[in-house]
Amino acid sequence: MGSCFYNSHLLVTQVNTCQLPPLCKQRRRQINGSQRAAKVVAYHGFKTPPYKLDALEPYISKRTLEIHWGALHCAYVEGLDKQLGKSDVLYGYTMDELVKATYNNGNPLPEFNNAAQVWNHDFFWESMQPGGGGMPIQGLLEQIEKDFGSFTKFRENFIEAALSLFGSGWVWLVLKREEKRLAVIKTSNAITPLVWDDIPIICLDMWEVSNYISPHLMLFLFHSSE
Ligand SMILES: [Fe+2]
Repeated sequence: MGSCFYNSHLLVTQVNTCQLPPLCKQRRRQINGSQRAAKVVAYHGFKTPPYKLDALEPYISKRTLEIHWGALHCAYVEGLDKQLGKSDVLYGYTMDELVKATYNNGNPLPEFNNAAQVWNHDFFWESMQPGGGGMPIQGLLEQIEKDFGSFTKFRENFIEAALSLFGSGWVWLVLKREEKRLAVIKTSNAITPLVWDDIPIICLDMWEVSNYISPHLMLFLFHSSE
């Protein structure tokens, strides 16, 4: 897993918007115009969780994070950079753009699984924090109460979604952009709500390997509100 740590210096700027930076637009015009593109060896780096690897204990052990983040997440980054290194077509995309573009309207390109898993895992680590986040406040709590009836009902809904997910996948709290409401949704394999233009708020990794080594993960997620 060592090489991933060195890749962290090869990050391109990531932005949480689908607006293309001017440089990217210019670059795509060059590519579309069949102009020769410079060789780029890596595009996306290996982001570190926003806490120490033992910070989520006893719910998620340091050893679990060393494997799940340090080996599995790392492998997705390495796999993606290897794929992107073979082609200049996807050069200049942010991670959000890359996930949406490679989803290809439901006919995923070969890069999609690695790209989406990198995005999902980055988001998953940021969905947690040592000691838990506590009850949501203000606007988010009001929206949860409006759309689910209460925080307790939202929590029940989320846990039920996780327990009923068949196979490997993810559970999400999202803001449905068009309907202007929150929803709990399940996605299979690497699929992320980004591809439907929903706005993810938190996610839970329900791939089998995650939960074999993190059996208390859901307890952690809702610890503060028990
Ligand atoms: Fe995972």
